[in-house]
Amino acid sequence: MSKTSGGILPPTINLERASSQPLYRQLYDAIRQAILQGTLREGLRLPSTRSIANELHVSRNIVIIAFEQLLAEGYIESRTGAGTFVTKTLPDEVLQLESVRANGNRALSARGKMWQRLPKIPFPAADPKLRYAPFRYGLPALDELPLDLWGRLLAQHCRKAPVEIAIHGDAAGLRRLREAIVSYVGAARGVRCNADQVIIVNGSQQAIDLAARVLADPGDIAIMEDPGYVGASSALQTTGLKLIPVSVGKDGLRVDLLLKKRLSAKLVYVTPSHQFPLGVVLSLGNRLQLLDWAAQNDAWIIEDDFDSEYRYESKPIPALQGLDRNGRVIYVGTFSKVLFPSLRLGYLIVPEDLVDAFVAMRWITDRCSPLVEQAALADFIAEGHFVSHIRRMRALYMERRSVMIETLRERLGDVLETWDSDAGMHTVAWLPPHVEDSQISAEGAKIGLFALPASGFAIRPLARGALLLGYAAFKPAVIRKGIRDLEPIIRKCIKAPGARMRYHSDRLHSCR
Ligand SMILES: Cc1ncc(COP(=O)(O)O)c(C=O)c1O
Repeated sequence: MSKTSGGILPPTINLERASSQPLYRQLYDAIRQAILQGTLREGLRLPSTRSIANELHVSRNIVIIAFEQLLAEGYIESRTGAGTFVTKTLPDEVLQLESVRANGNRALSARGKMWQRLPKIPFPAADPKLRYAPFRYGLPALDELPLDLWGRLLAQHCRKAPVEIAIHGDAAGLRRLREAIVSYVGAARGVRCNADQVIIVNGSQQAIDLAARVLADPGDIAIMEDPGYVGASSALQTTGLKLIPVSVGKDGLRVDLLLKKRLSAKLVYVTPSHQFPLGVVLSLGNRLQLLDWAAQNDAWIIEDDFDSEYRYESKPIPALQGLDRNGRVIYVGTFSKVLFPSLRLGYLIVPEDLVDAFVAMRWITDRCSPLVEQAALADFIAEGHFVSHIRRMRALYMERRSVMIETLRERLGDVLETWDSDAGMHTVAWLPPHVEDSQISAEGAKIGLFALPASGFAIRPLARGALLLGYAAFKPAVIRKGIRDLEPIIRKCIKAPGARMRYHSDRLHSCR
């Protein structure tokens, strides 16, 4: 769009001097069309008639006549002293936009249409009232974020010479941040790597997507934990992979099934330190067997270590990556849980021989992550704020977790089984068999509670439903009230169980 003083004119407005149509009519048609197609949006301020005339090299009278016609028909409105605006409600606007929407799918590729076949997990919550609603999964304590400090760090870097922060950075990320990550993951997670192996990405989601693009071809097989993280399964599927679900037991992914059925695959996605959504930990035995299986089958392991910082009673189990002797593990870390999800910063740690391919793909698909945020984060870690924030949050979440588990046991202990997982930011509350978790979740949403159903993450039907109850973001009083409010819904659904729980999906290669 070209800019005229105080407003914007779409570039589609070109007047043909040789046309038999008068110039005012051409201008009227072009602006009307731009309004109906949504290029000029409702409420938008239009440039003055004088600046449009200057921009289009026509007399101001021509613009005034076109405007008068648009005003008379209600497409634009003028406000004294403020200017001329696109009208807020337009009768035929809706009609035209809808006809465009109805045709929305006509030219899409198979991948472009894939989203319609993927599970509809409400991420982010469609209803704005549920954005920060009690029990929402995955949110850290937003009111405890050190935002003043964060703001100061950002401002410091914004004031730096523009050449340092305003030009594309290295596709692999800011060196200082990558070095800070090496020190942190080495000490906290037992990850063994050098800074060249660390690639900064816009969160785990991009990391998983990149790994699939670099390592697999459309039609290849990916093994998924079942139930498992829909963010990962969706990214794998839209890159053309076919999924094989493997069950999760008390010791994490059932590696025994993988061996017994002699499954082979291009890659396997796992959350070993805290399985999503069930919260179990992949045992050491399973870790070693999985690494062995990957080496024998020439397969890659995507290790999503998304909330490993939060372990409350026992020491965190070191990452799979640190046990790997064959360079099969692609380690994925994120700052979404430790800081905040909209930061969109995470990292990949890849075997040395894959670095060039990953960095090239990062550049091709998305260039690099924002530099100011990377620089602020590097300082945040190097100055020790990161580790002290984790320590403080760990103590806070531990208390909130106890409140959650005690209140659930007090009020609903007769009907719910809670898995007292010693890690993470949510509790899994199992329902009696044949009670639909999605029904409880939907009823809860009506009264402002956001309890995700475990069945939404399952590829094959679950034997029982469960609710994922996030506690990290909520004060004890909010947790207690939330459970009090949820109790009658759960009891009502238990008395009148719905149809047997089932999770339909056509996204399977084969169901094992
Ligand atoms: C299993 C798992 N991995 C990763 C993430 C974080 O994703 P991102 O880093 O893209 O925000 C989440 C958050 O919901 C998650 O549940």
